[in-house]
Amino acid sequence: MKVPLLDLQAQYATIRADVDAALRRVCESQQFILGKAVEAFESQMAAYCRSRHAIGVSSGTDALLCALMAVGVRPGDEVIVPPFTFFATAGVVARLGARPVFVDIEPQTFNLDPGRLEAAITPRTRAILPVDLFGQIAEMQAIGEIAARRGIPVIEDAAQAIGAEHRGRRAGEYAALTCLSFFPTKNLGGFGDGGMILANDDALAGRCRMLRVHGAQREYFHDEVGGNFRLDALQAAVLAAKLPHLDAWIDARRQRAATYDELLADAGVGRPVAWPHNRHVYHQYTIRVPEGRRDALAARLKQAEIGCKVYYPLALHEQGCFRSLGHRRGDFPVAERAASEVLSLPMYPELTREMQAHVAATIAGFMRGG
Ligand SMILES: Cc1ncc(COP(=O)(O)O)c(C=O)c1O
Repeated sequence: MKVPLLDLQAQYATIRADVDAALRRVCESQQFILGKAVEAFESQMAAYCRSRHAIGVSSGTDALLCALMAVGVRPGDEVIVPPFTFFATAGVVARLGARPVFVDIEPQTFNLDPGRLEAAITPRTRAILPVDLFGQIAEMQAIGEIAARRGIPVIEDAAQAIGAEHRGRRAGEYAALTCLSFFPTKNLGGFGDGGMILANDDALAGRCRMLRVHGAQREYFHDEVGGNFRLDALQAAVLAAKLPHLDAWIDARRQRAATYDELLADAGVGRPVAWPHNRHVYHQYTIRVPEGRRDALAARLKQAEIGCKVYYPLALHEQGCFRSLGHRRGDFPVAERAASEVLSLPMYPELTREMQAHVAATIAGFMRGG
């Protein structure tokens, strides 16, 4: 039985009429950049994420870049990030000439360990950038308390965690600025690149809106150097048509995660840990495979036509482009171990129990040595 890692065709089949109609409306309007479709989607998103402002941007990466620019990150500044995340989280810091300062992760959730945060703060720390990896919010309350004591803004990378909750509050409620991605594979995915910045502070939201259009408050009058960080109307229309389904999709993901938890209980692999105070949205269902057997298991699954992927095989402090930061193996051992053990399994709302049983049986068979 073939089990893909993700099946976007299956999702499209359930919403085709609404999405196609929304796309047609934009085509009829011939307004493709910002405009009504983007504004309507921004208001829906602000309500969904319970934040005051929602600013549609061109990608999750640009959301992060624009957010860092909005809080004034400059060359020579430091920004604290976890070493185990998608590259963009630290890449945007370096693009502004600032230094990514890594703080190791919690072994259970793969998120920035708040117990290690304080020691990494220096007078040059301009922002703290925790990531809600795989769909579980980082320890935002604890991180927020430390940041507030030091007067440092927190920018939350919630690219993988739209709709997730931490102590009853959503991604978008905690941080000064929260960044989302609408990359097609995300829990809310567009038909191309897209992203969003959520803000609760009016002044910061205004700065993001200005930076999104080359730093202009008024067209062709530039107070600052910004970028072209605009969201397309076609993407906004697709995303607005999908948003009403998001809660049902999240519930379905959570059910499938519970099914995997049950089916993999005795399979000899580590299952994802969700803290009881978090509502995990399972962008990924990521297991740990101990003792150097991860790559062999991945090969076995691929041979059985079961999709799987390693998010992420190399911690950021070990990336070639960050060699100049002077790190070496052993600096962030929890992240390094995660990079060698993680394996993400097929996860999407349309996955059937039969498919999951097949995935689990194949894993258990391999781990038993079969
Ligand atoms: C944690 C994280 N941060 C940032 C990004 C960047 O988003 P995008 O691909 O939309 O630029 C992604 C997704 O790709 C992500 O998973």
